Amino acid sequence: MRSERSADLQQGIARDGAGRLCCGGVPLSELIRSAGVGTPVYVYDLDAIAAVGRKLATALPRGSVCAYAIKANGAGPIVRALVHEGCGVDVVSGGELAAALSCGVSPDRVVYSGVAKRDDELDRAIGAGIRGIHVESVEEIERLSARAEALGVPYVGIGIRHNPDVEVETHANIATGHDEAKFGIAAEDIGPALEAISRSPRLRLRGLSAHVGSQIMREEEYQAGVKAVCELATAVRAKGFSLRYLDTGGGFGVSYRDEHATPDPTRFVATALAEMKAHGHGDLQLVIEPGRALVAAHGVLVTRVIQPKCSRTGRRWLLVDAGMNDLIRPALYQAHHRIEPLEVTPGEGRVAWRVAGPVCESSDDFGEYLLPDPPPALLAIRDAGAYGRSMASAYNARPLAAEIFVARGAVRAVRDADTLAETIDRELGVPLVRKAGSV
Ligand code: LLP
Repeated sequence: MRSERSADLQQGIARDGAGRLCCGGVPLSELIRSAGVGTPVYVYDLDAIAAVGRKLATALPRGSVCAYAIKANGAGPIVRALVHEGCGVDVVSGGELAAALSCGVSPDRVVYSGVAKRDDELDRAIGAGIRGIHVESVEEIERLSARAEALGVPYVGIGIRHNPDVEVETHANIATGHDEAKFGIAAEDIGPALEAISRSPRLRLRGLSAHVGSQIMREEEYQAGVKAVCELATAVRAKGFSLRYLDTGGGFGVSYRDEHATPDPTRFVATALAEMKAHGHGDLQLVIEPGRALVAAHGVLVTRVIQPKCSRTGRRWLLVDAGMNDLIRPALYQAHHRIEPLEVTPGEGRVAWRVAGPVCESSDDFGEYLLPDPPPALLAIRDAGAYGRSMASAYNARPLAAEIFVARGAVRAVRDADTLAETIDRELGVPLVRKAGSV
């Protein structure tokens, strides 16, 4: 019975014939009720996420890796589903590395970039024997070599993260491959970097990487970064280094608006593979690091309307219980997220509401939306699967919100919201002195 029903289920977040917004084919209102959680709440479709992971993993040749950028959403059910589909993980901290390994990913499918890795983070990565620690400065190469020496490991596989000085059309805060960015090693410093690697008896150069930015909508822009990595590979191989892989980064964009289409993420893979072949590097493995493209569209943040506030100046505020602490993207990048009622009634009138959260910051403002008047009880903030919960905070002593994970049209797992007691204890429960007698 169940399998018959699940075969018909629509994947992802979409409306059914009755106008109800569903996750995995089941109305969000039903899912929230059956999970027994309050609002705000993130709801994700694990099947839709796994399907993108599978699509990307199978678009790659054998040995190549789709390393999910866990920073986009580190929830266990999501990471485990992607690892199950054959994805690796791209990490940027010792914490993300520990989380990825505990989700069962093979260390050979893990890459680690980060401009400021602490010694304990380097030690953790060395100890785990991951595919590549991606170094981002000559100074880091020297530190890594010293750590490998101190730990007495025979060798450490590393990659050079290159800063190719490529400008991409995206928000300034998420462009990473231009020469003013703190990330990666610039062309002028590649020579000294290679010398530092050659001097170290413990470091083995295995790969080259670049990540030029996030939310890239056109393959041509991605191609510019890929080309730079390929050209670097030609120069590095000519110097006698034997490489295993090229990592062309993530950044595959998604559309946050109805009027634009999301590019098929496999187009970025095809671009990278074609470019590698054209440069004579078709023998190398490809690593990609997408985050957003796997999860953004398949998660939604459901919020409850607290009340309207209609000012005499004519502005109609709609105040909701989700704030910038639950989804910081509008405040940080002026990002647009579609906001919709959970249920739409044909022919209902709509008015312009300015939707804002409860946080004491003017930037806690999601923008203007056409929504029913009187407003519905619940609203869905769409495309919140990436960089929503993973960037959430308890600012204003607001507990981290609950999460519902849906698979095959049923609630598979629930993470409860933090309780108020947990949230305020973290602030108030600070011991005045660490140990008796110390100051
Ligand atoms: N690899 C590296 C080295 C990165 O720095 C990033 C993102 C990714 C992969 C994954 O990028 P994605 O495929 O998700 O675009 N919080 C911002 C995005 C910051 C991205 C930072 N780095 C947002 O909400 O738009």
